[in-house]
Amino acid sequence: MKLAFNLLVIALFFVGCNKQTEEKKATKETEKSSKFQMYQMSEMAALMEQMYAYNTQLKERIIAKDSLDSYPVAFDKLHTAILTDASDRDAFFNEQAYKFIAAQKKIYQEPSNAKENFNKMVNQCLECHSKKCGGPIPRIKKLLIP
Ligand code: HEC
Repeated sequence: MKLAFNLLVIALFFVGCNKQTEEKKATKETEKSSKFQMYQMSEMAALMEQMYAYNTQLKERIIAKDSLDSYPVAFDKLHTAILTDASDRDAFFNEQAYKFIAAQKKIYQEPSNAKENFNKMVNQCLECHSKKCGGPIPRIKKLLIP
């Protein structure tokens, strides 16, 4: 299976940081598609959606005890990608970015412990999101392997 980033998934699941109601979203979605327009996502938001899509696939591989490939270097862009709100890149963000990347890398370094390390990585997503961008938290929690 290819761990390619799936743009379609990204488009379908777009929510953003705010907590829009499903109803409002549906209306917006209709308005948008009728004009063939795409949301202007920041580079960081697009990267986040890639991280989400990639880790959804990685979760399936871990559950299936499949081989895990290696750390996606594109995730290093966490340190440089342009944010919707530039002031979000503060000391807390930078510290969390390092901790998250270390947690993601550990999954491939220690395949025998993949499930625990995967869940630790998801908790690193959540740790940053607890302060930075609350909206996607329910979605991110779904990544956890029970
Ligand atoms: C270092 C902090 C940090 C970490 C770690 C982090 N995020 Fe984010 N995330 C953010 C910020 C800040 C935004 C808002 C980005 C923007 O709008 O430019 C965001 C946005 C998002 C979004 C919404 C993107 C959109 O469509 O607008 C999703 C989904 C998301 N993150 C999922 C994840 C997942 C899954 C992980 C772990 C695999 C993760 N995040 C790790 C800080 C973080």
